[in-house]
Amino acid sequence: MDSPEPLLEPQLPALQAKAPSASTSVLAHFMGIGDSNSSQHVHGGTIMKLVDEAASLAGVRHSHSRVVTASIDRMSFLVPIEIGELVTFTATVNAAWRTSMEVGVRVVAESPRAGISRLASTAYLTMVAVDEQGHPVPVPPLVAETPDEHRRMREAELRRSHRLAERVAIERGRQQTD
Ligand SMILES: CC(C)(COP(=O)(O)OP(=O)(O)OC[C@H]1O[C@@H](n2cnc3c(N)ncnc32)[C@H](O)[C@@H]1OP(=O)(O)O)[C@@H](O)C(=O)NCCC(=O)NCCS
Repeated sequence: MDSPEPLLEPQLPALQAKAPSASTSVLAHFMGIGDSNSSQHVHGGTIMKLVDEAASLAGVRHSHSRVVTASIDRMSFLVPIEIGELVTFTATVNAAWRTSMEVGVRVVAESPRAGISRLASTAYLTMVAVDEQGHPVPVPPLVAETPDEHRRMREAELRRSHRLAERVAIERGRQQTD
């Protein structure tokens, strides 16, 4: 009788550098009556949930890992979105650090009847790649290729350094008042 095949350890995918475009993820949602708030526009929470889902997809595509949302660093609502509009969420990794990534999301609302589209919202989220136990794991480096990708990476670095500096300043202020 043949001896059984040896069990192979699963191989970790190589942490090969990737372009931002490899992570781009698009979700589309037709806004119905169940998405409305009391003023008959689309509820901000509906937009935030779909932004988070699109950002998670981009993070998973870049890292090939599970990801969790560590923070929503910025979310701007530029114009109200109407019921009956088709809303598209486009998410791309802007920068990748050790285990975390900044994902930018553009939200475009289209009125199919009028044939008009407009930028309705933008958001920046920090997603962290994690293993099955929820521990952070390294992500592949990101290689910007186009001038826009270089600009987004620079701006993501700026947001991260401001966020970290803010945390240090707040902790220092608390120590002084304790
Ligand atoms: C995000 C989380 C995994 C970080 O775990 P941790 O033990 O603090 O890990 P570390 O301190 O090693 O930080 C890991 C990375 O997360 C980043 N990070 C941690 N907290 C962060 C925050 N509030 N905002 C942005 N980035 C953050 C760190 O900068 C670090 O990035 P780097 O490795 O690229 O430098 C953990 O806090 C967590 O599981 N939070 C809950 C996530 C969740 O439930 N989200 C909602 C549903 S998906």
